[in-house]
Amino acid sequence: MTIIAIDGPAAAGKGTLARRLAAELGFDYLDTGLIYRAVGMNLRRAGTDPADEAAAEAAARALAPVDLAATDLRGDDAAQAASKVAAIPGVRAALLDFQRRFAHTPPGGKGAVLDGRDIGTVVCPDAEVKLFVTASLEKRAERRLKELQAAGRGGIQSAVLADMKERDDRDRNRSVAPLKPADGAIVLDTSDLDADQAFVLALSYIRTGA
Ligand code: C5P
Repeated sequence: MTIIAIDGPAAAGKGTLARRLAAELGFDYLDTGLIYRAVGMNLRRAGTDPADEAAAEAAARALAPVDLAATDLRGDDAAQAASKVAAIPGVRAALLDFQRRFAHTPPGGKGAVLDGRDIGTVVCPDAEVKLFVTASLEKRAERRLKELQAAGRGGIQSAVLADMKERDDRDRNRSVAPLKPADGAIVLDTSDLDADQAFVLALSYIRTGA
């Protein structure tokens, strides 16, 4: 089974790239951030603090596929709640099996592309291809602001940047599965690349190994 692991910080372009690579190769795609977002929002909706370890672990164990279809998972509230539950070791342990099963036995049977923060380091250290997609904080905040504006939600540049930095710091500095490039990962800096250029580069790396 071919597994492509894509990691990196928020708004670096991982999701767009992962989706396009999966479509091009005929592989299945799993957005692992959505899983953490769903756990975080299940707690928020129940009025529970996402940093409550016992409650978060129970919510992770109880997660059902239907929870991933909730409509409020893409917002910044969900992102912040996700990064809080994601720092809890028991939550990560509870979600590991599902991700590994998807990677090794994807529904289409051909291959899997997973994106997140710890795919190459923890979930699938055996992945054939590991990419670490990154970009400067300023560029990533600029992209997120454009997305918010396109969705008619607006936002303040400095607030978007501060929010993103807070989440990045939490993801990089947590004790379990911190965000970092996996051994052997190719680093793709998209600061000065558009989505098409990033796709072409990643595909050529996958096809030629360089
Ligand atoms: O990728 P996305 O921005 O949707 O992820 C939301 C949050 O979920 C991240 O900030 C991170 O804290 C957590 N996450 C993680 N490990 C993953 C995917 C996401 O810790 N594999």
